[in-house]
Amino acid sequence: MALSSNDFTFLANYVKNSTAIVLTPDKDYLVESRLNPVARRVGVASITELVAKLRTNPTINSEVGSMVAEAMTTNETYFFRDVKPFDVLKSELLPKVIERKGADRTLNIWSAACSSGQESYSIAMVIKEHFPALSSWRIRIIGTDISRAMVERTKEGIFSQIEINRGLPAPLLVKYFTKSGSEWKIKPDLTSMVDASVMNLAGNWPMLPRMDIVFLRNVLIYFDLQTKRSILEKVNRVLVPGGALLLGGSETTMNVSNDYDRITSGNTFYYKSKGGPQPATGPTQVARAPYVSPRGSAF
Ligand SMILES: C[S@@+](CC[C@H](N)C(=O)[O-])C[C@H]1O[C@@H](n2cnc3c(N)ncnc32)[C@H](O)[C@@H]1O
Repeated sequence: MALSSNDFTFLANYVKNSTAIVLTPDKDYLVESRLNPVARRVGVASITELVAKLRTNPTINSEVGSMVAEAMTTNETYFFRDVKPFDVLKSELLPKVIERKGADRTLNIWSAACSSGQESYSIAMVIKEHFPALSSWRIRIIGTDISRAMVERTKEGIFSQIEINRGLPAPLLVKYFTKSGSEWKIKPDLTSMVDASVMNLAGNWPMLPRMDIVFLRNVLIYFDLQTKRSILEKVNRVLVPGGALLLGGSETTMNVSNDYDRITSGNTFYYKSKGGPQPATGPTQVARAPYVSPRGSAF
């Protein structure tokens, strides 16, 4: 049964308020295809009934609320997605960090909106494969996502054959994964490099460690301009001055934030933090609670 415009508006407002994801009326087919399975899981006969249930407690912390919010996220990802960000990580970004922080020997990389973890583990494999000098450094790859299910998957590091076939070179499969039934489990020396936790980019941020590099890829596309601007300003505060930001192929800081310079590197580019908020941008929210990694260490 098609959703009434009243129910669609309610849902779109709920999803915007809880995740910042913008649902325009032409996305009604998406809403229906994503929420029909949720309605079945909740045990109601239709999305209309699901919406009625959500109306009684429209918060992301409620069971139905979190199921609806998660269902509206798009978790598409794969290993070494788009290749170039990982090339620039190898050819320019990591060598620069090694040069700059040789005395400090710490490296923090954030995979914001990490989905099921392929991005975090691609970063870990670049480090392991090409930077043996970093083996004595304190390395933290922090994967965060609004979806609890995706964060759990990132922590587990178990991938189907189809996921493995998408972007992972065979030599890296042999080296870093073990077969587990019909699936592949990433080895502990890589899982130990990745800390995954739930975080809403559009909510109040926990206190994060200063990041040398931020992957914020293929997530800003779902947000409106104001949300993009606020997130980019907050990312700039989290980055060390001169730290690098990598966005998705169809995302840009242009006309959104003045906090970054666009740096060309080979046949690609990344964004470099100018350090501190720039005059034309507004104030940002400051961090609140300390970030506690799943292994219990507060940063
Ligand atoms: C298309 S995936 C991108 C995954 C990965 N970064 C990549 O480029 O392959 C987008 C991810 O953003 C997450 N997401 C959506 N809204 C979010 C929010 N408000 N805060 C944090 N993550 C969010 C989704 O759950 C999803 O896993």
